[in-house]
Amino acid sequence: MNDNRPIGIYDSGLGGLSVWREVRKVLPGESLVYLGDGKNCPYGSRSREEVRDLADKAVGHLIGRGCKMVVVACNTATAAAIDFLREKYPDIPIVGMEPAVKPACLTTRTGVVGVLATERSLDGDLFRRTAARYGRGVEVIPVAGRGFVELVEQDREQTPEAEACVREAVGEMLRKGADRIVLGCTHYPFLKPVLERVVRGYDVEIIDPSPAVARRVVQLLREGGLEAGEGHRAEYSFVTFADEEYRLRLERKAEQPLK
Ligand code: DGL
Repeated sequence: MNDNRPIGIYDSGLGGLSVWREVRKVLPGESLVYLGDGKNCPYGSRSREEVRDLADKAVGHLIGRGCKMVVVACNTATAAAIDFLREKYPDIPIVGMEPAVKPACLTTRTGVVGVLATERSLDGDLFRRTAARYGRGVEVIPVAGRGFVELVEQDREQTPEAEACVREAVGEMLRKGADRIVLGCTHYPFLKPVLERVVRGYDVEIIDPSPAVARRVVQLLREGGLEAGEGHRAEYSFVTFADEEYRLRLERKAEQPLK
């Protein structure tokens, strides 16, 4: 059985494109519709109810466009709404973001793990539960990446200001000996080159969960018999609740090399 309908990928803005890239890489034959809200970004300091309503509107929109599966490529929306969304749309598989605390805690040698995410994600149950479950015997240091989302949204990743923000955020975890830093927000991989510069000289591995999320998409497509047919030509579309200019930025950022 084949299913040529697109996969929907949603984020508050540009950040989920880090997941979009991974999905495109492992599933080059699948059509993708990327929805970057844009109008209501950033989500990180909004209330849980607000984020849930925004996520509901976005996922409803993607399903309305005929998506066969939706990836909530936003840790903040996942933390606030994933159970609600799965209950509301039981016929469509919905994949969320997992904070990659588990692989970090399982592999740390120093026993200290840093987690960068938005405020809203860090004070959510999902992060607390994951940290409590896998972080036994490990010191998990959560830090909100203040200003990170705005830097990425404004294409200012390669600025001295970005470097200063990143340096400030990771200072404490580096001083305490963290050897794993988890990127708990899908905007943050765009700041990875800056982060790599900042941690140079420290023995630190940066963990981005998006490849694991893309593998989960592959698995669910297989299990559900939802894979596109062999001859299907993948199409990529980009939509937003903001304006046409923002939509064009999504298109451009999707192809921007991470450097
Ligand atoms: N990219 C999102 C995340 O993964 C949300 C960023 C925001 O809008 O604050 O958490």
